Amino acid sequence: MHRVVFKGTGSYLPERVVPNSYFETIVETTDEWITTRTGIKERRMIASGQAMSDLATPAAQRALEAAGVPPEELDLIIIGTSTGDMLSPSTGCLVQNNLGAFKAVAFDVNAACPGFIYGLAVARKFMQDGSHRLALVVGGEIVSNRIDFEDRATCVLFGDGAGAAVLEAVPESEPVGLPGGLLSAHIRSNGALWELLYVPGGGSRHPPTHEMIDRRLQFVKMQGNEVFKHAVRAMTESAEQALASNGLTSADVDWFIPHQANMRIMEAVAKKLDIPMEKVVITVHKYGNNSAATIPIALDEAVREGRVKRGDLVLCCSFGAGFVWGSALLRY
Ligand code: COA
Repeated sequence: MHRVVFKGTGSYLPERVVPNSYFETIVETTDEWITTRTGIKERRMIASGQAMSDLATPAAQRALEAAGVPPEELDLIIIGTSTGDMLSPSTGCLVQNNLGAFKAVAFDVNAACPGFIYGLAVARKFMQDGSHRLALVVGGEIVSNRIDFEDRATCVLFGDGAGAAVLEAVPESEPVGLPGGLLSAHIRSNGALWELLYVPGGGSRHPPTHEMIDRRLQFVKMQGNEVFKHAVRAMTESAEQALASNGLTSADVDWFIPHQANMRIMEAVAKKLDIPMEKVVITVHKYGNNSAATIPIALDEAVREGRVKRGDLVLCCSFGAGFVWGSALLRY
């Protein structure tokens, strides 16, 4: 068996900053409503013409640089995204080409906001037997062109970005090297609740037609307060499962990185887990909810700022459309 250690992280945010005041000019809302209900002050959005691989590639390059791994040595590339460049091919293949990582097998995992956690879980399965030594896992999303700028209940929440991690499979018998790595990854889904959060148009159910666009089916549909309740419950349970399965408690956690959808969701989950807010990595105020990107971006920033240090126990959990949810516990 092999351990899966974190060799390096990276992230990329588009340059365009969109403050809450922008939404005051297009829908009936206020900076005060957005701030108090979500904790979001601003978010990043792509420039015209940018696509998922344009964000995922620099995030990956930064992670590879931090890890000291040349792209041609990668064995596996997994992109957690539900907003890829095209319906086909996968964004994984486009990133592989951009990086020149032609030894790797590359594919996408569509798991909405927990896309990075799902990516870690899948990578771990490939790596535990040692058959794939070096992996790149990216969580990235461009939500800004999936939101209805006439719907005040959703348009204020989301943003764009990408984060990445380079992982290495190390034989368990090898005593030296980096700390424990990915201790566990638990993923779950419940498709019965898909209609609470979904994007109906653009796929095979509602292919691109003028009628589909006129019905605004290409945009996110969400019952926010239902999503809120399920998110708190599922993220808490998954985080508890991660700790229990490793014989640890929340007192052992050095840093908690929950999905950054809403400050009140993060506060509620931290409170249920009895984790003080000082241990919670928070980026939602500056980036909003960029879906699969929130956790790898927060992890990368916390590592680069020197908050998450080698050997720290980091607990991550996420929730999103599907519903899908999950947790990852790592000894960085
Ligand atoms: N500005 C002003 N008012 C707004 C608004 C906005 N941007 N968006 C919604 N409202 C209004 C609603 O229309 C409603 O008005 P009404 O009472 O007259 O009908 C009122 O605010 C309360 O709406 P509600 O949905 O109950 O608010 P809430 O406290 O649940 O907050 C969310 C709304 C969306 C912020 C919250 O439900 C949420 O964050 N949910 C989770 C969403 C999420 O994270 N999704 C992604 C998960 S991966």
